[in-house]
Amino acid sequence: MIKPLIVANWKMHKTIGESVEYAEQLRRRFGELRDKTIVIAPPFTSLYSVSEVLKDSTIYVAGQNMNWEPSGSFTGEISPSMLVDAGCRYVILGHSERRIKFGENNGIVNKKVKAALLAGLRPILCLGESEEEREAGITIDIIKKQLQEGLNNISSDDIEKIAIAYEPVWAIGTGRTATAQEAQDVHCHIRRMIHNFCKSDRADTSTILYGGSVNAGNVGDLMNQPDINGVLVGGASLTVESFADILQYK
Ligand code: PGA
Repeated sequence: MIKPLIVANWKMHKTIGESVEYAEQLRRRFGELRDKTIVIAPPFTSLYSVSEVLKDSTIYVAGQNMNWEPSGSFTGEISPSMLVDAGCRYVILGHSERRIKFGENNGIVNKKVKAALLAGLRPILCLGESEEEREAGITIDIIKKQLQEGLNNISSDDIEKIAIAYEPVWAIGTGRTATAQEAQDVHCHIRRMIHNFCKSDRADTSTILYGGSVNAGNVGDLMNQPDINGVLVGGASLTVESFADILQYK
């Protein structure tokens, strides 16, 4: 049984004060939870403060993005080791908002995944098709290309450390979620693809998350699917109350 991984992606929301208050409340309620892994991805400005609040708890912190270079003249960028220094254990990479709004392609995402692994961070690699791609019947081709190019030249040992997040672009922030069966179908393909890349049984233990309008009402059905090992939650993670309802899915 793969331990469920539940990730809160706050995107560009919350001041430092709001982030700390949330983290304190979450720690009080779930700071010793052992049957699920909880990860919070605050904006960069809140990372250190949130990490301090969650220190020695079972809740981990993630960056929402990073640059692949270790240091240098890259105004406005954050390096992998800076995320580690701020207390991060995970990093979200290749989110569709990064791909669509900031021009990240599979090659850039691949560089980031490698740099994250080198720094000791666990990447959460996001993939997903657009509405047009789904309608054109090419969902699996798109996912395969994103996965193959995103994981290019990464060893089987390292692939084990990466969580894959399947997030159909048409389901993100729209309130329109994939049905549990639609998500399961793609997850099953992803597991098979990882199996082929690794040429071993490691895919059986790969963590594959679903993301896109996850809420307390649909999380249970999603988590009951055999190849869905966790969820990446945006909007519904912004209050402790609604995130707590998700964490307590049945
Ligand atoms: P959403 O966002 O839950 O608001 O759809 C998910 C994500 O972007 O990771």
